[in-house]
Amino acid sequence: MINYARTGTVDRNEAEKRLQELRSQINYHNYRYYVLDDPVISDGEYDRLFRELLDLEQRFPDLVTPDSPSLRVGGPPLDQFATVRHAQPMLSLDNVFSAAELAAFDEKIHRYLQMDDEIIYVAEPKMDGLAVELIYEDGLFVLGSTRGDGHVGEDITAQLRTVQTIPLRLRPDSGQPVPASLSVRGEVFLTRAGFAELNRQREEQGEPLFANPRNAAAGSLRQLDPRVTAGRPLSFFVYAVGDTSVTPCASQGELFDYLAGLGFRVNPLIRRNATLADVREQYDRLLEIRHDLDYEIDGMVVKVDSFALQQRLGNTARAPRWAVAWKFPAMQATTVIRDVEFQVGRTGAITPVAILEPVAVEGVIVQRASLHNEDEIRRKDLRIGDTVLIQRAGDVIPEVIKPIVEKRTGSERPIRFPETCPVCGHRLVRPGGEAITRCVNPHCPAQRLQSLVYFASKSGLDLEGLGKKNMEKLFEAGLVRDLPDIFRLRREDLARLDGWGEKSADNVIRAIARARKTTLSRFLAALGIRYVGEVTAGLLARRFTTLEELMNADRDELLEIEGVGEQVAASLVDYFSDPSTRKMLEELFAAGLTIEPETAGERPLEGRVFLFTGSLKSMSRSEAKELVRELGAQVVSGISRRVTDLVAGERPGSKLKKARELGIKVLTEEEFLELTGRKAGGDDGT
Ligand code: IVH
Repeated sequence: MINYARTGTVDRNEAEKRLQELRSQINYHNYRYYVLDDPVISDGEYDRLFRELLDLEQRFPDLVTPDSPSLRVGGPPLDQFATVRHAQPMLSLDNVFSAAELAAFDEKIHRYLQMDDEIIYVAEPKMDGLAVELIYEDGLFVLGSTRGDGHVGEDITAQLRTVQTIPLRLRPDSGQPVPASLSVRGEVFLTRAGFAELNRQREEQGEPLFANPRNAAAGSLRQLDPRVTAGRPLSFFVYAVGDTSVTPCASQGELFDYLAGLGFRVNPLIRRNATLADVREQYDRLLEIRHDLDYEIDGMVVKVDSFALQQRLGNTARAPRWAVAWKFPAMQATTVIRDVEFQVGRTGAITPVAILEPVAVEGVIVQRASLHNEDEIRRKDLRIGDTVLIQRAGDVIPEVIKPIVEKRTGSERPIRFPETCPVCGHRLVRPGGEAITRCVNPHCPAQRLQSLVYFASKSGLDLEGLGKKNMEKLFEAGLVRDLPDIFRLRREDLARLDGWGEKSADNVIRAIARARKTTLSRFLAALGIRYVGEVTAGLLARRFTTLEELMNADRDELLEIEGVGEQVAASLVDYFSDPSTRKMLEELFAAGLTIEPETAGERPLEGRVFLFTGSLKSMSRSEAKELVRELGAQVVSGISRRVTDLVAGERPGSKLKKARELGIKVLTEEEFLELTGRKAGGDDGT
């Protein structure tokens, strides 16, 4: 083999040819080393090949291709991250916490599919890292992104190129068909050893330490300078593709074989299970070996193996119906309660918070834990000075499980629940039958501040730059006291604030300008009305096209909506009948807020209300309901004049007779399938 780089007189054509050889050789050896953990050349030989590649590329910089392993050391730094829209959303997963809950999940699937046979599940370790999407075009890695909000993420292609276990080109000699475009999803993570080493270096350099491998991996990927990312030992395990139909696979099990063939690293602990008992065994095994693994896992993901069944089950807005995360029990530790603070929430709820002797739970320092409410403190018989067992589950706030009574010395003091609001001094109220004590002063500054924080948060209008800390500042400075004030903020007021500059002021003003136009569901969620979260806000926005319509709706109209119960209806009526709410809303609109119609894709059945009776041959009741909901219609369970369509299957009940009396349109199953674009026979109408 001639080392052209060293001969000095290499022409362009020769260089191009040699570079191609070098790329494919180095990529192959990378794959042997990092993915298969089975190298076939020595480190010295590998280094020689790599150096030759670098030499040649330096002489012919225009011959550097996107699959060149030299890019693994990191390209030039970026100014900012571009955004990337995922062609298929990157969904979340629903959780279960016990074998019984898993059995309920399995039962629900059987019911939904109307199937009696055992369902085959693939069970995979749930990696505690970061979900990313990798796009391959004609086998070449061209675009990598974070999950973001599931629909839009950030372009981190250059950073992901530095991850050795991510193929820059799908293995050309795999013999597998390579689709023109392939979206691959998986988890980027840091090994425990890599994490420990990284923190050791940071400690040496006096830099702040990462709390856990997951944060370290996230911090490493969100580096504008890919060379920094390259210095972090990140790994990647694949677990899904965006669109299974572009692959030759019919199941999750086949998909893993296929992806391994293309050069991806597949977690060796993944199993295909013929029975639910096997799934449970797999869970016990993972739980047992969890701490021996070189990476963190926080549970096991259980997926229906067959893609055909996955397709029939479909997704909710948030998560697939065909998969579930079976979480490991939370992580526990013991520590001491030093004191108790009482926090005032957005709705005036008083939450007791234990101030703890700081303690590390799986690498995260815990210093505060929620005590929930007065009854919980009594039930657990907690005292200040107690040694307690605490637990942390994923990202949620840690909680106190119980006192270790044996450790009491007699010097412990009881926890006294306050009688007046710790912030405004107003009398606290605890309505009979409720566990929550509240400050009922509508002008309580703490409540106002929390509402403002919530309004600007990701669950609300997502006002970038107006996080908790900054909102507190604005509140204390008297610039923002109520929601409309946000939209009246002026650039010069912000720029004058301590620690703010022109740039941060500009950013906030821009974020506010963007948020001026919003949708009904988003706005409702942002208001932070009691019991009205994102999901309920979505239901309301489906039923009512304008805020005015919703404000004028009475309790009964609200109760007709599936998913809206007594509590929600009462809370809404309460909220909107309050004159101060009306005044606040008027001011918001006067300050330029506009609510635009929802853009939820094709909603041909918008405005129609469906009711089902009798059983359908081609699909289950739940499938049918979900189908019409997806098309924009509403589903109700009782007959009323509001119903626009009654679908009558076999052996219909009394609803059919009533519908006829009321003159409501009645559809047969065939007519229903035609209307919804599905052909009879259950072939999904495609
Ligand atoms: S499947 C539509 N498989 O869990 C399927 N996710 O809570 C959705 N995760 O964002 C993902 N290991 O970051 C899947 N083997 C695995 C996983 C896994 C970890 C993460 C992933 C996702 C989150 C959902």
